[in-house]
Amino acid sequence: MIENIPQTMHAVVLTGHGGLDKLEFHRDWPVPVPESDEVLIRVAACGLNNTDVNTRSAWYSKGNSDATTGDALAGAEGEDGTWGGAAISFPRIQGADAVGTVVRVGEAVEQSLLGKRVMIDGWLRDWDDPLNQSKAGYFGSECDGGYAQYTKVSHRQVHPVETTMSDAELATFACSYVTAENMLNRGAVTAGDTVLVTGASGGVGSALIQLANRRGAKCVGLCSADKTDDVKAVGPLAVIDRNCSDLGSALRDAIGSESVDVVADVVGGSLWPQLINALARGGRYTCAGAIAGPMVEFDLRTFYLRDLTFTGATVPLPGVFEDLVGYIERDEIRPLLAATYPLENFHAAQQAFIDKRHVGNIVTEPFGPAT
Ligand SMILES: NC(=O)c1ccc[n+]([C@@H]2O[C@H](COP(=O)([O-])OP(=O)(O)OC[C@H]3O[C@@H](n4cnc5c(N)ncnc54)[C@H](OP(=O)(O)O)[C@@H]3O)[C@@H](O)[C@H]2O)c1
Repeated sequence: MIENIPQTMHAVVLTGHGGLDKLEFHRDWPVPVPESDEVLIRVAACGLNNTDVNTRSAWYSKGNSDATTGDALAGAEGEDGTWGGAAISFPRIQGADAVGTVVRVGEAVEQSLLGKRVMIDGWLRDWDDPLNQSKAGYFGSECDGGYAQYTKVSHRQVHPVETTMSDAELATFACSYVTAENMLNRGAVTAGDTVLVTGASGGVGSALIQLANRRGAKCVGLCSADKTDDVKAVGPLAVIDRNCSDLGSALRDAIGSESVDVVADVVGGSLWPQLINALARGGRYTCAGAIAGPMVEFDLRTFYLRDLTFTGATVPLPGVFEDLVGYIERDEIRPLLAATYPLENFHAAQQAFIDKRHVGNIVTEPFGPAT
């Protein structure tokens, strides 16, 4: 049974670059109206992510060289304030990882989608040129996203999912796991590889461990010492304290070798030279983030004398999301849901996300907890 759709809804609206105060909770924001090729989704849950934090604070701006803190950044400009290097238009509803029910479809969309529980593939494509990564946008950045009771998106972005997982659990996957799978694809990770994973307690890091394991690789996770037990439960071969003084000897103690085949990095920052030094000859470095700081010390000699390959990973090729849905439906990966918050408490949710005392991901529920 499809519900009556109201005219207005609860939404968290980003009004400009800056601190948490730029995120306003509204009770009377207009419910979007889907275009002919779009669907309207009643959002049950939406996961948090760092793209939203970085866009709010203009962290992506070349004027910034600091770690992600979630604070307003001096020197960062709005003109290059998004992941793609362009300006964002305000007001904007952020939130990429929406899970919900299709409650209305545009006239060009199959009626059979109505009532389906779906996940949203956040990578917006030019559907006449879908392989062109330069034309990609991101849900919640280049259009409104899921921090609202309703959202709309092209029918090509929505994927019905058959699983017993809850909406909140499903909302932990999209951004982190697509990013992690794309990193592993770009780094050509295969069975038998040993992969050093930074930020292993976070959304992408814990996804990297699960997804590398499912393709037969072995992982060593780096994380804060107090999160070691939780990260061990995700299934790495070993876990190393990210504040260790000598990564090479910590690796030797943990796995009997000072080097690995692949470094999968979302952290960067001051540890970066040691990460690169941990790569064996012919090793691969795959990167999708720099939460500890984007400016690193790079000794080109290590790079070329050791025959290393570096790959960046942001816009995946089409198909990665469909792969992810398959892994979920076949129970090959499991969610790491740290906490849920009602949309009204969004500031508390994003502050907890920034404080990083959790493992996995935090999710907001626009209609409150499922009953
Ligand atoms: N390119 C893309 O498409 C894409 C997509 C998703 C995410 N990302 C980026 O990838 C990064 C990680 O994302 P995520 O969603 O996994 O984040 P997350 O869930 O917040 O986890 C990040 C982890 O990094 C560790 N960390 C935080 N600050 C650190 C610091 N200063 N030094 C060392 N470790 C630190 C924390 O672990 P411990 O407390 O255990 O150390 C934390 O659990 C972010 O920068 C994000 O913007 C990029």
